[in-house]
Amino acid sequence: MSGLFVVFEGGDSVGKSTQVDLLDGWLTTQAIAHRTTRQPGGTEVGAELRRLVLDPVFGDVSPRAEALMYAADKAQHVHEVIAPALRRGEVVVSDRYVLSMIAYQGAGRELEMDDIAHIGWWAVGGLRPDLTVLLDADPDEAVARIADKDRLEQAGLDLHHRARGFFLDQAAADPGHFLVLNARDTREAIAAAIQERISALLADRA
Ligand SMILES: Nc1ncnc2c1ncn2[C@@H]1O[C@H](COP(=O)(O)OP(=O)(O)OP(=O)(O)O)[C@@H](O)[C@H]1O
Ligand SMILES: [Mg+2]
Repeated sequence: MSGLFVVFEGGDSVGKSTQVDLLDGWLTTQAIAHRTTRQPGGTEVGAELRRLVLDPVFGDVSPRAEALMYAADKAQHVHEVIAPALRRGEVVVSDRYVLSMIAYQGAGRELEMDDIAHIGWWAVGGLRPDLTVLLDADPDEAVARIADKDRLEQAGLDLHHRARGFFLDQAAADPGHFLVLNARDTREAIAAAIQERISALLADRA
């Protein structure tokens, strides 16, 4: 007996959390058992790991150590939160998941994307989402929605373009498990498309 695992991915400020909230509300009105969660994952172990990664007291944390700590956070999050809810048959909605780790740790750093992908999927025990909603936007335009465009260096912007390309490639390689939506559409149009797809997935399982 397993639930439905839905993940939101995409660049910064594309509206992921907005849509997670809207989906949360819709699932509630449909009386569908569900829980929303986010990565990094909010477990006690995960919070400690994040503290370790971010605490300036530790100075220069190696990129490999950092990747492994983020992976450990994911492993605990799946173990403690996501997998038990799926076993109870719930819809689990996660704001970011493994692809974000690969996109941001693997693109632009000194680590190989393939290595990060391997570590990330290993950490979550190979648990793949049933559906990944990719909110897609041109980073140049998405950045314009954020406050201060001038403060973003070109290097940062390149990373966001690479991350976008990575997300789109993943979706193109596995279209049955992705829903790619234009993040510049209205909140309501995006939410309606997500609800339609999830309704169909739930109907298939009934
Ligand atoms: N479809 C939309 N059209 C216009 N603005 C939107 C849309 N969806 C969300 N927003 C606005 O864009 C901003 C970023 O939204 P949100 O916080 O949901 O994005 P996010 O992807 O979760 O960002 P982050 O990467 O920082 O977590 C918010 O001010 C939100 O109200
Ligand atoms: Mg968010």
